[in-house]
Amino acid sequence: MKPPAKPSGPDRYGVIGQPIAHSKSPWIHSQFAAQTGQDMVYERVPSPHDGFVATVTRFARDGGFGLNVTLPFKLEAFAFASRHSERAAQAGAVNTLRFDQEGVYGDNTDGVGLIRDLHRLAQGEGFGLEGLAILVIGAGGATQGILAPLLETRPERIVIANRDTAKADSLVARFGGRAQHLSVARLDGLTSERFDLVLQATAAGVLGETLELPTALIGASRLVYDLAYGDGPVHASTPFLQRACEQGARLTSDGLGMLVEQAAESFLLWRGVRPETASVLGRLRELPRDRQ
Ligand code: ATR
Repeated sequence: MKPPAKPSGPDRYGVIGQPIAHSKSPWIHSQFAAQTGQDMVYERVPSPHDGFVATVTRFARDGGFGLNVTLPFKLEAFAFASRHSERAAQAGAVNTLRFDQEGVYGDNTDGVGLIRDLHRLAQGEGFGLEGLAILVIGAGGATQGILAPLLETRPERIVIANRDTAKADSLVARFGGRAQHLSVARLDGLTSERFDLVLQATAAGVLGETLELPTALIGASRLVYDLAYGDGPVHASTPFLQRACEQGARLTSDGLGMLVEQAAESFLLWRGVRPETASVLGRLRELPRDRQ
C-alpha cells in the first residue's frame, strides 16, 4: 500500500470494529490529544464483517495515519500488516495499525495495557505481580494476546482453563521452551486449587452467557479481573464480577483500565508521546454513557 499523502487539517486516526457504535476509544484519544497538544482527530470506522481490507485501504488512501482494531478483526489486521512488532508477532493478532512510509505496521498493545492496569491494582493493595499463581479463563484471541506479557511477570504458574482443552493445549504449544510455567485445566475441573490472580478472558459475557466458577477459588484469590467491562461500578460492572463479589472475592476489577492503557500505548506508537492515563480513566468512569 502507498503511504498516505498528508491532507490538510489534523492527522486522522480511528477505531475499526463491528459493532463500533459504543466504542469509548474516540473519547479516550480525544482526551489524550488535548492533554498532549496533538493536532489530530479520531473517529469510529464501521466495517462490514467481510469488508475489513477494503475499509482499511480506503481509510489509509484518504490520508489516515493509524487505526485501532477491535473485534472481530484482530486476526485480519495481523494478516494485513506488512511488518509486525515483536509483541504482535507473539500474539498473532494486531490491535494497532500505523500507515507509514514503509507500508502497514502492526502492533499489539493489549498485553502491555493489561499488565499496566494489573500493576496499578496490585500496587494499591501492596503486592507485586512477580511470582503469582495465575488462572486465565478462556483460550481464544483475548488469551492469546496476553500470555506472553503475563509470562514476563515471572509467575509461579499460569493455568489456562477452557471448556475446550485442546484449544488451550495448542495455545500452550505456541510457547515452546517457555511453556514450563503454563498448564491447562478443564473449566469445571478447578475445585480445590488456589490462585492469586483470576483473569476472565472468555467471550461468555459478550455472548450473554453465564460462566460458573467454584466459590473457594474466587474467595481465595487476591484479585479477580474481567478483561471485559460494563457500565456499572468498577468492581461489579460485568455479570462475572457481580457473581465473583457474591462469592466473596476480596478485590475485583473490570477491564476499563486495560482499555485506557492499551490506548495510551497506541497513542505513543503513533505520536511519540505517552499520555497520562490515571486522570483519563477517572473521568471515563464518571462520564455518563451518552457523553463517551
Ligand atoms: P475472543 O477473541 O474474544 O477471545 P474467541 O477467540 O471466539 O473470542 O474465544 C472465545 C473464548 O471464550 C473461548 O475460550 C471460548 O471457549 P471454547 O474455546 O470452549 O469455545 C470461551 N467461551 C465462550 N462462551 C463461553 C461460555 N459460555 N462458557 C465458557 N467459555 C466460553
